[in-house]
Amino acid sequence: MSICILAIESSCDETSASVCVDGKILSNNIANQTVHERYGGVIPELASRAHMQNIVPVVDTALQIANCPLPAIDAIAFTQAPGLIGSLLVGTQFAKSMALALDKPLIAVHHMQAHVLANLIPDHKPNFPFLCLTVSGGHTQIVRCDSPSQLQVIGETIDDAAGEAFDKTAKMLGLPYPGGPLIDKYAATGNPNRFQFPEPRIAGLNFSFSGLKTSILYFLKNAGASNLFKEEFLADEATRQKFIDENLNDICASVQHRIVSILLNKLKKAAAETGITDICLAGGVSANSGLRSSFERLGKQEGWNTFIPAFEYCTDNAAMIAITGYYKFLERDFTTLGVSPTARAIW
Ligand code: KG4
Ligand code: ZN
Repeated sequence: MSICILAIESSCDETSASVCVDGKILSNNIANQTVHERYGGVIPELASRAHMQNIVPVVDTALQIANCPLPAIDAIAFTQAPGLIGSLLVGTQFAKSMALALDKPLIAVHHMQAHVLANLIPDHKPNFPFLCLTVSGGHTQIVRCDSPSQLQVIGETIDDAAGEAFDKTAKMLGLPYPGGPLIDKYAATGNPNRFQFPEPRIAGLNFSFSGLKTSILYFLKNAGASNLFKEEFLADEATRQKFIDENLNDICASVQHRIVSILLNKLKKAAAETGITDICLAGGVSANSGLRSSFERLGKQEGWNTFIPAFEYCTDNAAMIAITGYYKFLERDFTTLGVSPTARAIW
């Protein structure tokens, strides 16, 4: 008997639904919310309202693409945590209503576990145990994965996430939200060694990006004259803007180069300490072309088997919730209709 999971993701500003049969993704429908662009960040209230508008057509289309009639569904999986509470509530309530109406089991999924397990979607999967560098807008973690249900965070950021480092840099450069993909685009034709930004000295496998953010701020305020902390800025607004306009590609390439080196140096250390050689990327920032190519290069050099999910499974999507739901179904790991979402959750 095959197992058919309908999955719903609504943790932030993407409304997504997916159908998965026996671990194969049949649809992954994503509605992006463009309403936030003009505000330079996600506005939680607007995100919840957009999820309310999107959720019925998004689920409907996912079922149609998969050619899946409602009675064929065996369980409904949904993102229970972490995320924006109003956004999570929309997906949770919708999933609960469907489970009640169809009399099917409900599966609560942790968004960060799902990012890691996105690596189990393709036929070519990592072997257990594997390590996963999960880099998103809200998280930066190195996760040791011994089975689909046994995951342990062995390193994480003590301040900003890697995605925030990209997005905040973009904001300082006057680029619209989310700026990560734009930095990636401009970096493609820039010189990554033109400007030097500091690498933080953080013990163990943890990360920090706040010092880098401050150094970029001072660097830009000084129009590239110095990225040392200075009380008085050397440049006026017009000079700063001219400097950014004339050097945008090199600035983006140099910042990206440093973010990538911070991430990969810790990943290399984690691999050496654990002896694990199947290594994965996950999360929205793993769509970054600089990170992807440097990761592949490092993997070759270190003798790793490297895995990166397809682009559509890197940023927020319901297919990763569906694959996680599938493995939870196999373990009969169901929740009840009394379940509530939680904005912050450790695992
Ligand atoms: O995983 P995700 O879609 O959502 C969260 O769970 O946070 O990650 C979103 C983050 C944003 O910070 C976005 O700027 C970043 O991923 N991102 C990128 C790229 N594509 C998405 N950062 C750098 N380069 C990219 N190509
Ligand atoms: Zn995410």
